Amino acid sequence: MKRIVQDLRTFSRTDQAELQQVSLNDEIDRTLALIEPRLKGNEVIRDYGELPPVRCFAGQLNQVFLNLLMNACDALEGRGTIRIRTRAEPQGVVLVFEDDGPGMPPEVLSRIFEPFFTTKAVGKGTGLGLSISHGIVARHGGQMQVESSPGEGARFTIRLPLEPPPALEGRT
Ligand SMILES: Nc1ncnc2c1ncn2[C@@H]1O[C@H](COP(=O)(O)OP(=O)(O)OP(=O)(O)O)[C@@H](O)[C@H]1O
Ligand SMILES: [Mg+2]
Repeated sequence: MKRIVQDLRTFSRTDQAELQQVSLNDEIDRTLALIEPRLKGNEVIRDYGELPPVRCFAGQLNQVFLNLLMNACDALEGRGTIRIRTRAEPQGVVLVFEDDGPGMPPEVLSRIFEPFFTTKAVGKGTGLGLSISHGIVARHGGQMQVESSPGEGARFTIRLPLEPPPALEGRT
């Protein structure tokens, strides 16, 4: 019990309102450890590159990773593969979350970042996950892109600068 509470606290960083320098590979691992029970039969492949530290609100970025991984689990229903790739670029880092689930038709794809847009049953999804995630990445000075088509799985690509824009300083 003590360990779970400790893990959760490190994950959400509720006690830290300051920007921190973190290794995002470690943060993704933290998130994966927390949702381990939800992964069920899905395989997770980690294809991590060496990343420079990123200054960010780590708890917020972990919420983004959590939502992407939960969405992949919902789509895969225990029968697929989640691949996470990370790499450094001259301007920052690139994080790719990919699944080989059912993917999305264009009319869904074009709306997934809208608040309250969900295709899940009433009471299962609020449709807020991706709109909140998009906002968090944007406030860190980054971008989130999606590629998907029916039967082709889904790929979410996040680009983040090593330093957030000055406006983020002191904000939670
Ligand atoms: N990996 C994925 N594969 C297929 N469809 C996806 C995937 N990720 C997101 N979606 C689609 O995008 C919609 C919006 O996702 P979002 O995370 O914003 O909300 P949600 O998961 O439905 O609800 P919440 O995250 O609030 O619990 C989902 O309902 C689903 O239709
Ligand atoms: Mg979601």
